[in-house]
Amino acid sequence: MSTLWQGRFDGDPADDLMAYTASIGFDVRLAPDDIAGSRAHVRMLGRVGLLADEELAQVLAALDQTEQELASGDFELAPGDEDIHTAIERRVTELAGPAGAKLHTGRSRNDQVATDLRLFCKRELAAIAADVVALQSVLLERAADAGDAYLPGYTHLQRAQPVLLAHHLLAHGWALARDVDRLADARARLDVSPLGAGAVAGSSLPLNPDMTAADLGFAARFENSMDAVSDRDFVAEALFALTMVAIHLSRLGEEIVLWTSEEVGFATLDDAYATGSSMLPQKKNPDIAELARAKAGRLIGNLTGMLATLKGLPLAYNRDLQEDKEPLFDALDQVRLGVRAMAGLMTSIAFNTDTMAAAADAPASAATDLAEHLVAGGMPFRDAHAVIGDLVRRSLDGEGSLADLVQADPRLGEDAAELLTPGVPVTRRTTSGGAGLQSVRAQIERFRARLNTDAARFDRGS
Ligand code: ARG
Repeated sequence: MSTLWQGRFDGDPADDLMAYTASIGFDVRLAPDDIAGSRAHVRMLGRVGLLADEELAQVLAALDQTEQELASGDFELAPGDEDIHTAIERRVTELAGPAGAKLHTGRSRNDQVATDLRLFCKRELAAIAADVVALQSVLLERAADAGDAYLPGYTHLQRAQPVLLAHHLLAHGWALARDVDRLADARARLDVSPLGAGAVAGSSLPLNPDMTAADLGFAARFENSMDAVSDRDFVAEALFALTMVAIHLSRLGEEIVLWTSEEVGFATLDDAYATGSSMLPQKKNPDIAELARAKAGRLIGNLTGMLATLKGLPLAYNRDLQEDKEPLFDALDQVRLGVRAMAGLMTSIAFNTDTMAAAADAPASAATDLAEHLVAGGMPFRDAHAVIGDLVRRSLDGEGSLADLVQADPRLGEDAAELLTPGVPVTRRTTSGGAGLQSVRAQIERFRARLNTDAARFDRGS
């Protein structure tokens, strides 16, 4: 077996060592980025005179062919290919001969893998952000179509005040807007090229890290070679941004589970986005929503695992850092699948607005409006709260309906009783950003404008 380091070693590495330490099984996903990094590296080597024109052409041609073999599935792994970097270099050297052996000039896998992973993150985080924007636009369209439908707004999962369905849906939408921002921020911060840092200290050769950074489209190059090869806070930060998306999906998922239960009945899933039971013929289950709830746990595991790996690591590169990839890949895959599945679910779900309204029309839902009616007449809020609280208690004690008690109360009367008419309370929420019709209409437009900006930002995975 041939290895990159065989010059210093007697004999082959143990099979157990390769089995435990090889990363080719998963880092093959970095192949396109590794090829891109290598192209930029050799072009720079050519420009600074470390590679003759002819050698450069040979290496670039070998990289092209290797890229094709990887894309078509014709690439054959050799026993010593412990990771994708090794595999590609080995193949380029086979194809380009002595020129290929110059590919790794002034470069270490330490700066190489960091470069690959940053390129990968730039692309993937933009793609995920675009998927999140697509889910947000589903929420927006459902909100815009929801008109004046309303449902109870809950605190402590107890009915609190009626809110427009549009308002409820956009609450999830705004949370996702912050996720898009976080993904963009994480992406902007990691947009720094580590290429040229070498193994730990840079090189005695006339490398030009600014050149490779510009060639690869990075916004900047590293400032410190030791930091460049050992920084993985960009992975932790990407994982946090992804985990937060997963947590937001889990909150939406939990509401879908509740809303589609027979007990609540606020929504009905489309058959394409529900599952059946193997035993119970009547069942229609919200498995996407449940898994959205569950997978947040898995993402939290990926994030905390990564943080634990980084904690206490001495400078600079340590093999521990190889453990950055699987949690990141898994988080990206799960968030992508989850966001897309939730977008489909939310597009096709039917809202049972009559059931929602009936739940929100319970007279006690207007209790705050009654208290605010008294406040508008000059009563201090704390006193008004006590007056209405007393009426609610008396009605619960069987003294009469809340409407009758309100009507009979000299401090309240006919006008106040009107507030108990179904559909009226939600119209009374006039605060900007509040749950009433006017405010929500304005909110929908603000959300739409924000979404258009974000959609343009992540168009074609820029
Ligand atoms: N597969 C390794 C990783 O993911 C590449 C770097 C190996 N470097 C080394 N000095 N052994 O980190």
